Amino acid sequence: MADPARLIVLISGGGSNLQALIDAIAAGKLNAQIVLVVSNRKDAFGLQRAEKAGIPTLYFPLKPYRDANRDRTDYDADLAQALLPYRPDLIVMAGWMHIFSGHFLAHFPRRVINLHPALPGLFNGTHAIERAFAAFQQGEMTHSGCMVHYAIPEVDEGDVIVQAVVPFLPDDTLETFAARMHAAEHQIIVQAVHILTSQR
Ligand code: GRF
Repeated sequence: MADPARLIVLISGGGSNLQALIDAIAAGKLNAQIVLVVSNRKDAFGLQRAEKAGIPTLYFPLKPYRDANRDRTDYDADLAQALLPYRPDLIVMAGWMHIFSGHFLAHFPRRVINLHPALPGLFNGTHAIERAFAAFQQGEMTHSGCMVHYAIPEVDEGDVIVQAVVPFLPDDTLETFAARMHAAEHQIIVQAVHILTSQR
């Protein structure tokens, strides 16, 4: 068995996808270890999930760069420099709200993956779950889905690693549909890491 893959997980919120990875590793389903959890928001509950699991955390906000009129690319470059010493084999954007430029991605070629709650090319960008549900309510769609893809500078583009269809049900509310979507995300985030770490 190869050494466990070194994962860095980037979050901005609740961290339920981070938790799915923590649980999969604890259950022996992934030959991986999470060496760092990074959040751009201090109050992200995902940081508490990491601390509870004994995983080091890093709070890396964008605000100081904005306040100093520094460019987003400075943030990206500085974050990359902060992560390089952890020697990540894979960086997982699990609900990370910032878009990365090449100033970050170039340091980790084909090693940054992103989870997005929509199928390729359909609802790129923010509020994908709400936008898909609105299309369903207009009778324009029977299903949506989620995917894990390689991160590239173009938002939510990049080669797809895993995707899953998430159907709408006739009596769905946004909440019931979002719950079904998140359950699917928790599965594909583990599947994607398994695919990329079992090839080692
Ligand atoms: C997920 O739906 C993810 O696809 C989206 O934000 C949510 C993150 O959820 N970008 P969590 O923080 O992992 O619970």
